[in-house]
Amino acid sequence: MTTNALAYAELRRMLEQRTAIVLSEEKEYFIDLRMGPLLSRYKVDNLAELLPTLRKDRRAADEAMDAMTINETSFFRDAKPFDVLREVIVPTVFALRGDRPLRVWSAASSTGQEAYSVAMTLLEHPIVRRQGWTYEIVGTDVASSVVERAKAGIYNGAEVRRGLPGALLTRYFEPHDGGTWRAGAQLRAGVRFQVGNLIQDRPPVTDLDLVLLRNVLIYFSEDMRRRVLESVHRAMAPHGVLMLGAGETPDYAADLFERIRLGDMWVYQPRSRR
Ligand SMILES: C[S@@+](CC[C@H](N)C(=O)[O-])C[C@H]1O[C@@H](n2cnc3c(N)ncnc32)[C@H](O)[C@@H]1O
Repeated sequence: MTTNALAYAELRRMLEQRTAIVLSEEKEYFIDLRMGPLLSRYKVDNLAELLPTLRKDRRAADEAMDAMTINETSFFRDAKPFDVLREVIVPTVFALRGDRPLRVWSAASSTGQEAYSVAMTLLEHPIVRRQGWTYEIVGTDVASSVVERAKAGIYNGAEVRRGLPGALLTRYFEPHDGGTWRAGAQLRAGVRFQVGNLIQDRPPVTDLDLVLLRNVLIYFSEDMRRRVLESVHRAMAPHGVLMLGAGETPDYAADLFERIRLGDMWVYQPRSRR
């Protein structure tokens, strides 16, 4: 193998060890694209020259791993999960939790749009309003840069135009610098974000009523997917609902979760622990 091929292989190995993301060999163009800014910042010409720094400097390694994650997301992404939340889960499933705040985990929350979309769905819901339900929504992601963005809750025009209805934009966001919008106090209350690695850290909350684990397991090997789902299973309330990304089917965890049709989509409920 050439020095460069070895360097790509080492970066892929680092990424898999740290995040579970498996990148295939033909993804070298993707590595070049994502690592370009870091090469300039560390004033080196290629990945092989950067690797010694990544091996000894934890911060540089974190930055590299951040740069390699795919953070694609949007408000109300795929629409259906939020329709099902509003029309089915709030009126039926959530009533089963007893007298405590609702607990929701946006796992792999990226820049926060998913968690804020859940919050807006709850804030707008007549049952939630009438009964004064409170909630705790926690977003976690392995990439600290996106967690910081989620905490700030500041989105540019293109981001708010992707999926966020105008009425919700004006109700829950305030105009901010340079044409951006910032999530207002009401929306931010009850939503928090922290760095969390699905393959190393425990879920941030237990007895969860709803877990959104969308568009992240697709990057993992089947062993790692299984490991993550075992940990999610342990953290869910018996009546809790797990939502995966459109088209993600966890056949490899059929003993842990029952596949259930709610409204227009398949969701997963934990089978009872023995
Ligand atoms: C494509 S985004 C999905 C965001 C959101 N769930 C959605 O569906 O819109 C995938 C996210 O998973 C995060 N991620 C990747 N590996 C992770 C890990 N091991 N632990 C936690 N988050 C991870 C990435 O940083 C990225 O923000």
